[in-house]
Amino acid sequence: MHTFQLIVDEFVDNSENYTQAVDLLNNGEIVAFPTETVYGLGAVATNEQAVKKIFAAKGRPSDNPLIVHIGTVEEVSLYTTNISEVAQKCMEAFWPGPLTLVMDVKPNVLAPSVTAGLDTVGIRMPDHPVALELLQTLKKPLAAPSANRSGKPSPTKAEHVFEDLQNIIPCILDGGMTGIGLESTVLDVTLETPVILRPGGVTKEMLEAVIGPVVEPSLEQQKIESTPKAPGMKYTHYAPDAPVYLIEANKIAIETAIAELKPVHKVALLAPQNFEEIEADYYFSFGNAHDLEQMSASLYDALRSCDKTDATIILATATSKTGVGTAIMNRLEKAAGGKWYSL
Ligand code: TXA
Ligand code: MG
Repeated sequence: MHTFQLIVDEFVDNSENYTQAVDLLNNGEIVAFPTETVYGLGAVATNEQAVKKIFAAKGRPSDNPLIVHIGTVEEVSLYTTNISEVAQKCMEAFWPGPLTLVMDVKPNVLAPSVTAGLDTVGIRMPDHPVALELLQTLKKPLAAPSANRSGKPSPTKAEHVFEDLQNIIPCILDGGMTGIGLESTVLDVTLETPVILRPGGVTKEMLEAVIGPVVEPSLEQQKIESTPKAPGMKYTHYAPDAPVYLIEANKIAIETAIAELKPVHKVALLAPQNFEEIEADYYFSFGNAHDLEQMSASLYDALRSCDKTDATIILATATSKTGVGTAIMNRLEKAAGGKWYSL
């Protein structure tokens, strides 16, 4: 299958490109598109055959449910029931935006594979002009996970999607680099106290200012069986080919590690700009130190860049767990499988 890449920036008339994407989706095909978080791989969420193509293209385990994207807030009542006051407040405050709400699913409306047999569904309204134009032209919900092969870092550029899915999917809408760079916050609002199943751009502090106390289990706590969790948690995520090790963002610690590794390894260093003089075999920038937004926007591109090198080990600097730092460290800890470099 040939993969078309259609550019949809704000400077040209894109209507034909949207028509082409909408026609493909209406014909049961899958299309990649940008959101404010990462690129998604969309299928009409009520079409079971189309949704199955997503799982096949990604190599995604069938027990991992998909997020449903909607183009208007009102549509939420078509696919969910028992919309709580907390859910309502979240939608008012954060939609469109990077917050997925897990709610009770309305039976027999969505394709069964979307929810992977659960009685809940994750749903969000993305805050990206291309995603919104696509959804509002289509006038149907789109089931869309991140548009990467399962296990790889999520795509923040159309070329990342192309690397993973060329000749597997028919169409990529190229809307440039995504803004946030990390997937949406997933919040389960079916529970008495809402639980963050995946940290993201909408932080615990932001949520608590609107709805009061929210539970945010650590990765360790999420491994304990009794804690509610996103079914996707148990799988490998965000992993480049070479092993990743976390390291303190400290010049001496990094230089010592590199000196120790160099005789046997090619080392890729992922770190903020102020560490760029350190002599690793490869260096990929996280942007300005202490600018968490820049770090989240560049993280997946940096992780993916390592796969284009012959690096045999990757050192990535850790950051504070305040604000978006929680989401950044969540992804880094998963990419590293929890490993820290120790001398
Ligand atoms: O930012 C995003 O959320 C991106 C863009 C494309 O919207 N999408 C995304 O989808 O990251 P995906 O499939 O890569 O991640 C969805 C996560 C998974 O961890 C999944 O297990 C969880 O959400 N999830 C989906 N439905 C759920 C449900 N009903 N209950 C609990 N977790 C759910
Ligand atoms: Mg994903």
